[in-house]
Amino acid sequence: MLPIQVHADKTAAARAVAAEIAGLIRSRQGSSKPVVLGLATGSTPVPVYQELIKLHRERGLSFRNVVTFNLDEYLGLGPGHLQSYRQFMQKHLFDHVDIAHSNTHVPSGLVPRDQADKHCSEYEAMIRQAGGIDLQILGLGRTGHIGFNEPPSAANTRTRVVHLDEITRRDNSLFFGDIDAVPHYAISMGVGTILDAHRIVLLAWGESKAEIVRRSLTEAPSDNCPATHLQKHRNCEYVLDHAAAGRLEAISA
Ligand code: F6R
Repeated sequence: MLPIQVHADKTAAARAVAAEIAGLIRSRQGSSKPVVLGLATGSTPVPVYQELIKLHRERGLSFRNVVTFNLDEYLGLGPGHLQSYRQFMQKHLFDHVDIAHSNTHVPSGLVPRDQADKHCSEYEAMIRQAGGIDLQILGLGRTGHIGFNEPPSAANTRTRVVHLDEITRRDNSLFFGDIDAVPHYAISMGVGTILDAHRIVLLAWGESKAEIVRRSLTEAPSDNCPATHLQKHRNCEYVLDHAAAGRLEAISA
């Protein structure tokens, strides 16, 4: 099974992940090679971003040598839309640290459909030009999605337009207040794009994620549960709180 860290709660888990990110950033200080982070949105990574902001304010952690690529963006939502993932990142991380705006990348939600393929291949090219992703942070959807790679998504998928599952739209309507306001499509890095990262850290908190955590770690890799493809990665770790690890204890017992 992939390596797993289980922490008492999400605050402790987020502190450990933020410390790893800070260590990576500090190890490159003075280097001409920036640290390239792959970032996620949604509720899961928020405590990690809060810890990073704290490290910036209280410990002088600088993001000047950091480049970021977000996993996904809703198609149809502009960067100024309150529910866009660009806004989310500004609000939860970028506006509070010393990262250059030009070093932060989120797929465009406003790209016309006939130019979306071009935009997606340009996003992939930018990641390659930056030297590839050093550390990719992931959340986990209840459908088994990573990024917005809903089932079925193959291990070799690249950044592309994806159709959102109804379960995901319902889960995310929490942020929108109304399911009808949740877009049906998004642009997402592919599973293959994610697997190219040098290191992957998947975060999951709470009982509602326990079953999909169990499935993604224990079922044979399959397009029907895209997170299972992470089992093939040589440097992927799950960071969980007790509740999200709740169904793994039965396996190891
Ligand atoms: C977000 C993303 C999604 C979320 C997943 C879990 O950028 O790519 O895969 O990580 O939907 O969402 P939360 O964290 O809200 O449970």
